[in-house]
Amino acid sequence: WGMAQINPSILSADFARLAEEAKAVEGADWLHVDVMDNHFVPNLTLGVPVVESLRRATGTPLDCHLMIEDPDRWAPQYVEAGAGSVTFHAEAAAAPVRLAREIRAKGARASMALKPATPIEPYEDLLPELDMLLIMTVEPGFGGQPFLDVMLPKIRRTRELISKHGLELWLQVDGGVSATTIERCAEAGADVFVAGSAVYGAKDPADAVRTLRSMAER
Ligand code: DX5
Ligand code: ZN
Repeated sequence: WGMAQINPSILSADFARLAEEAKAVEGADWLHVDVMDNHFVPNLTLGVPVVESLRRATGTPLDCHLMIEDPDRWAPQYVEAGAGSVTFHAEAAAAPVRLAREIRAKGARASMALKPATPIEPYEDLLPELDMLLIMTVEPGFGGQPFLDVMLPKIRRTRELISKHGLELWLQVDGGVSATTIERCAEAGADVFVAGSAVYGAKDPADAVRTLRSMAER
């Protein structure tokens, strides 16, 4: 299945000890930072100032997943705050091509996320503008939800579209990814895996990252 990247989600960490929690997963490829605004999703987490602080607290690059309204307006600030990758939602972006180009021009990887009910097909022509596509495998908003198996065909179809166009973009899955579901995701074509509760719920988060990676690379 090739190389796999494991991105622990700090949504499942202790927000009062973020620096320590970020350090607990050094060795992970990216730290996944879930930004929620109480409007796009019914939950509220953190914003630009916390991303700036996290940037200083860890050497692991930051993968910011923006579950917010009006990403056209706010996403560029996350690049300036030090995110190495910025993901906006297709359902929220008014001008996704323009936004992806702006994120890239500012120096970060540009990524777009699809909620479970959003199909990939209308976005086929947009794929060359992106460095990563995120397929949500739960409804965004909360950690610890069960993995939606019905998303596997969408992961497979997306991988086929990426190959058909000869693109290099990464295919990320987020939601319910664990030792019991990661192999199915890898087999379907995902190569970047977000894991919140499966990493921070483990006794040794760094070891959980290694275990997940070995399962996804089998
Ligand atoms: C959910 C977030 C996820 C969340 C995943 O809206 O986007 O990143 O932290 O948590 P788990 O891995 O526990 O499903
Ligand atoms: Zn996320």
